[in-house]
Amino acid sequence: MKGIVKTIIFQFAVFSVIACTPIEKQVQVKHDSAPENKVAPISVADEMTYANVNDVRVKHVDLTLTTDFKSKKLSGTAELQLVWLRESTTTIKLDTRDLTISDVRYWHKNAWLPGQFSLQDADPVKGAALVIELPVAADKVMVEYATSPKASGLQWLDKEQTAGKQHPFMYSQSQAIHARSWIPIQDTPAVRVTYSAKITTPSPLTAVMSATSNGKVGTAFEFSMPQPIPAYLIAIAVGELEYQAMSRQTGIWAEPSVLASAVAEFDDTQAMIDATEKLYGPYRWQQYDLLILPPAFPFGGMENPRLSFITPTVIAGDKSLVNLIAHELAHSWSGNLVTNATWNDLWLNEGFTSYVENRIMEEVFGEQRAVMEQWLSVAGLKRDLKALPAADTRLRIELKGRDPDDAFSDVPYVKGHMFLLYLEQAFGRDKFDPFIRYYFDKYAFQSISTDQFVKELNSQLLNKYPGIVSLETVNQWIDQPGLPESSPNPQSDAFVKVQQYQQAWLNRNLATAALKQVNWTVHEWLYFIEILPANLTMTQMRELDRQLGFTQSTNAEIQFAWFRYAISQDYVAVEPAVKTFLQSVGRKKFIVPLYQLLAESSTREYEWAKGIYAEARATYHPMAQSSIDPIFKQK
Ligand code: BES
Ligand code: ZN
Repeated sequence: MKGIVKTIIFQFAVFSVIACTPIEKQVQVKHDSAPENKVAPISVADEMTYANVNDVRVKHVDLTLTTDFKSKKLSGTAELQLVWLRESTTTIKLDTRDLTISDVRYWHKNAWLPGQFSLQDADPVKGAALVIELPVAADKVMVEYATSPKASGLQWLDKEQTAGKQHPFMYSQSQAIHARSWIPIQDTPAVRVTYSAKITTPSPLTAVMSATSNGKVGTAFEFSMPQPIPAYLIAIAVGELEYQAMSRQTGIWAEPSVLASAVAEFDDTQAMIDATEKLYGPYRWQQYDLLILPPAFPFGGMENPRLSFITPTVIAGDKSLVNLIAHELAHSWSGNLVTNATWNDLWLNEGFTSYVENRIMEEVFGEQRAVMEQWLSVAGLKRDLKALPAADTRLRIELKGRDPDDAFSDVPYVKGHMFLLYLEQAFGRDKFDPFIRYYFDKYAFQSISTDQFVKELNSQLLNKYPGIVSLETVNQWIDQPGLPESSPNPQSDAFVKVQQYQQAWLNRNLATAALKQVNWTVHEWLYFIEILPANLTMTQMRELDRQLGFTQSTNAEIQFAWFRYAISQDYVAVEPAVKTFLQSVGRKKFIVPLYQLLAESSTREYEWAKGIYAEARATYHPMAQSSIDPIFKQK
């Protein structure tokens, strides 16, 4: 039923785009038609895949899956359409992790015939190769399989972990290399596929995917994704979900009790799309919806095409954290349209997206806010730079057999953002903006490497406008550790004022009660906490907390910043709130540093945090578990 409503809204949306938009937009409509999925040879080796991508290419995936909450399994078939690239081979290697394969067939002379297959030994990072040896270069293979209850890319939530507490919930998180834990596939960002799916769910649960919903047909929810995307963008969620449209292109899927607050928080999404189109060209995915997940979701957001997955911890009630929506939306250009060819090039996705995110924030919420967000993210980067090994502070990293999840940090995001901001300031927006637009257009629906980007930058900007930025400087940004001296230094007037107030308060020229009177935004308070000196007395901390209510804040970012500071100051009054936070939120960005900090603080805090983790572990995503387990195995 809901699917049908959505289809009607969608059709209305398409109609209204054509009927009432100005001419320049109608011209752009041609971009909305499904682009060609070109099969070009792949020159950059992705060490995270087993797939023999230059022998054979998967072009389309058709999934028929049943969600079983009792056994915590997806089971069914994946039918893969193939293009053979080398005459000498009829072997196809697919990526899998913890899949049980029951059958493989190939399509030959209008019939499905049994195929020969073997599942190789599993590698802890890459999983196991599924090797299928065919007698002919068949157009299609069909793999019948089931996932493991421990699938690294799926989380099965008990009903207690949802907002409604009536029904269980399941969702996928495929980036970086977890699609293989629920689909046997060529799991590399260098390969793009279109997909379709039929998903059977227990009543009354709804399935949603990173695709167009074709509604419920019989017992299954049907989907189709006409634009070619890498495997890490295939996504699914099943739960008690309702939909509300926000504008001609945007809407929200959420549990019923969360829907209204999410719509109120994120109703600027259409304005964000409009702003990005003006800067960087058409939005190529027609619809842009948000799915609000339960708080166990390990990320802030995930840019699944047409349907970004969003943590509920950004519903702050005052739009203070909506840069996350700008970020996931920005991926519709950087990442989903132009994709990093390997996970060593992650900065091409995340650095560009952080830059575009900030440009969107400037357009929609003004320069002041954009600059404050720059400053705060640079502060986070500087923390990471101190803690990381030098090799991991380069934009282009070498994973060399390491799990991409372990190499995750602020470096690709914020150092990448600062690099692009540096280029923007050096060349000026009049030259830099058209370059970025050209780059998104030229490489649309392709996957590219850092080298390809540098080549393009070199020919389009460095060589055209000589004497502004040298290739050496560019290479320094990309391959040298740390932050170059030329890195921009975001300055916010609002923050200067906050600093003055804080100084006056520290000098006892300003009462704590007077701080309560200032009309600061969340960002100003975040800055205030960020620059608190290490020598505050317990009395001062109690006074701040009593007047300003940091410990009890309803803003997850303020809580996180305050908890970090409080733990490092041994301000134990914060502990009950920290415990509640760790037991209710699964977002890695918050919980991993908090556990780390507690574990490093004192034996008492280590044991205390270990106890909390023992209880909370089962409620965390497998990815969060693998990040936190090592913290409590060291001592
Ligand atoms: N694509 C990322 C999440 C991700 C990256 C998952 C790498 C797995 C591997 C997503 O777009 C993201 O960056 N989310 C951030 C948003 C923030 C920077 C505004 C997050 O989750 O906090
Ligand atoms: Zn991102």
